[in-house]
Amino acid sequence: MTTSQSGRDVVDVLTSDHRDVTALIGEIWSVRDPMIRRDLTDTAISELVRHAVAEEMYVYPAMKKYLPDGEKSVQHDIEEHKELEATMKRLEAVDVSGAEFDDALRKLETVLADHVRDEEAEQFPELRRQIPRTELTELAGKVETAKKLAPTRPHPGAPNSELFHKLVGPGVGLVDRLRDKLTGRATR
Ligand SMILES: [Fe+2]
Ligand SMILES: [Fe+2]
Repeated sequence: MTTSQSGRDVVDVLTSDHRDVTALIGEIWSVRDPMIRRDLTDTAISELVRHAVAEEMYVYPAMKKYLPDGEKSVQHDIEEHKELEATMKRLEAVDVSGAEFDDALRKLETVLADHVRDEEAEQFPELRRQIPRTELTELAGKVETAKKLAPTRPHPGAPNSELFHKLVGPGVGLVDRLRDKLTGRATR
């Protein structure tokens, strides 16, 4: 709906996150190499945690403030985020070559598709109807800034892959550690 980067509103930003993570999951299915699979999975987890935290920090308050059913929509989304996180934790803990990984990835795909459908069909259009345009663009900026608080998982093979692992570390605990970094929660 908008052409320039700066004119993007919060719905544009969150919608493109949904596209990116969905595309990443498709990519994970298409590769067999365990190292690349692990890398892509960590990338998807990193993107999705970032997205969920940004929604929680900035979109939930706006939903509560402006949407008639805001409180209820937020509660529903919180449940979905919990399910997404539980599934991501399974994905970070299992061997990428095993059947359990495929199960968990299928589950993530399903829960994410539900999440995307609910938000894009109901909540996002409602946000655009109820929230002043200037505030929607302001929220876009806040969401973008919030996402930068945790290091981005580089694409597999990228030179700063090593740096990411140093900062966040691969495997078990990735979801929690990213969430901690983004929310400023103390890490153990
Ligand atoms: Fe979302
Ligand atoms: Fe959400």
